[in-house]
Amino acid sequence: MTPNATALAYDDITDVATYFSQQIRKPDVVKAQSRAAWGESLFYSRMPSCAMCHSSGGRRGMPMMGMMGGGMMGRGMIGSGAANVPRLEGQHAAYIVDQLNRFATGERRGTVMNRMAASLGEADKQAVADFLSSIP
Ligand code: HEC
Repeated sequence: MTPNATALAYDDITDVATYFSQQIRKPDVVKAQSRAAWGESLFYSRMPSCAMCHSSGGRRGMPMMGMMGGGMMGRGMIGSGAANVPRLEGQHAAYIVDQLNRFATGERRGTVMNRMAASLGEADKQAVADFLSSIP
């Protein structure tokens, strides 16, 4: 990505971002229902939970999301729908697993994700990816 990203002018970056933000996501078909269900529970129940940062908010099983969205964490790095936290719903499972592996090995450097990804086992990564890729 580096050659592609550095070749773009600032205005082009804004245009590309606007274009992608307007695309409709097409979720994957769930192949293993029980694995996706396990991934869902991992996504919401870990401490800190993935959902705490990544969820677009207001979803089931997250009584704290409303509080965080409007509260002190809403505009910081942590919080529902924060602009610098990528949205994961509808992303391809293979991409999610690949990025988690890259974070875990340190090949991709993140602000918080290296530690988060390193704490997930292989099966955990696949389960969480199956769950996320199935959400529109
Ligand atoms: C404290 C906030 C936080 C938590 C908790 C968190 N993430 Fe992240 N995640 C981020 C941020 C911020 C990024 C952008 C890269 C970076 O700066 O680390 C990211 C990036 C990612 C990406 C790459 C997305 C892309 O488009 O390339 C994936 C996949 C991901 N996180 C999955 C997870 C999973 C699964 C969990 C739970 C095990 C989790 N994250 C927990 C904040 C968080």
